[in-house]
Amino acid sequence: MENEAKKIILSGIQPTGVFTLGNYLGAVRSWKTMQEQYNCYYFIADLHSLTIHIDPQKRRQQTREAFALLLACGIDTEKSLVFVQSHNKCHAEMGWIMDCCSQFGELSRMTQFKDKSAKHPDNINAGLFTYPALMAGDILLYQADYVPVGADQTQHLEFTRDVATRFNHTYGETFKLPEGYFPKAGARVMSLQDPTSKMSKSDTNPKATISILDDEKTILKKFKSAVTDSEACVRYSEDKPGVSNLMTIYSAVTGKTMAEIEAEFAGKGYGDFKAVVGQAVADELRPIREDFARLMQDRAYLEEEMKKGAEHATYIANKTLTKVKKRVGLLLEK
Ligand code: TYM
Repeated sequence: MENEAKKIILSGIQPTGVFTLGNYLGAVRSWKTMQEQYNCYYFIADLHSLTIHIDPQKRRQQTREAFALLLACGIDTEKSLVFVQSHNKCHAEMGWIMDCCSQFGELSRMTQFKDKSAKHPDNINAGLFTYPALMAGDILLYQADYVPVGADQTQHLEFTRDVATRFNHTYGETFKLPEGYFPKAGARVMSLQDPTSKMSKSDTNPKATISILDDEKTILKKFKSAVTDSEACVRYSEDKPGVSNLMTIYSAVTGKTMAEIEAEFAGKGYGDFKAVVGQAVADELRPIREDFARLMQDRAYLEEEMKKGAEHATYIANKTLTKVKKRVGLLLEK
């Protein structure tokens, strides 16, 4: 699986619900295409998901599902390393060390922290605050070259680079500085009901998000009720966030440019446009849904793949962790 000459790609996704079309088009779809060119490490960020309250039984189920979803989205365990974050204990240990290398001020500036604490004022836990330090640890443990994420994670990546630079400066060259990887076709997908905010797994309005397991009928219905505007013209523009979001989705799925899409729907109404976009999305997601159903029937296979992934991930991460512990002056056990 590993090839020394290939650059390392690493990314993670939280098991906080079925992936949305945003997760898929913004991140996971491109993970699949990277497998040929890079050494890819992908994981289910279950430790990160602890910052949100989820029923424990549900969390376990969602973690299993998220793992199966990655495979259903085309991540191949023969080509990529796929694992569950908490199965590799190095993450928690490294997370603490990164906590101690992070400053209160810089963590206070993270927009995700501000957004999430505003959304859940009853649970502003310390983990939510130090989340970026755990994420920095995830990335640095594997000496990743590139981190493919959606635009919403840019600030966390910048933070990771800052922490790594500071650590290298203080303790000597230890970490490679990771770069963000934002694939051109990787769209930022907005809510179908409020196109000024991102499509999110945690949205309470089911009409606002497309789950990648939604069936065709549901997908068509949700697109039909997507918020647009009164101009009745398919045109990409900042002052038309609803239509522009649908165009972004259609472009990401079909590879068509905005100009081609505008030409395709010239003189046509939003009804036609929404139906075509919905159908394209349904066609794209159908094989994933079918594969997911098949994988969830085979629990032994999933468990075996998780075990293999955990062993391999621990082996890689442990090398960096040992170096880090030496650097900061922890006495290594003999
Ligand atoms: P998470 O689980 O929120 O999202 C997983 C990936 O999906 C992208 N994404 C989107 N892209 C486009 N449009 C959207 N509406 C949209 N919603 C989500 C996210 O940018 C992300 O790439 N902190 C991470 C998980 C993580 C991680 C890491 C990622 C933990 N450690 C280390 C990379 C490296 C997160 O919450 O992703």
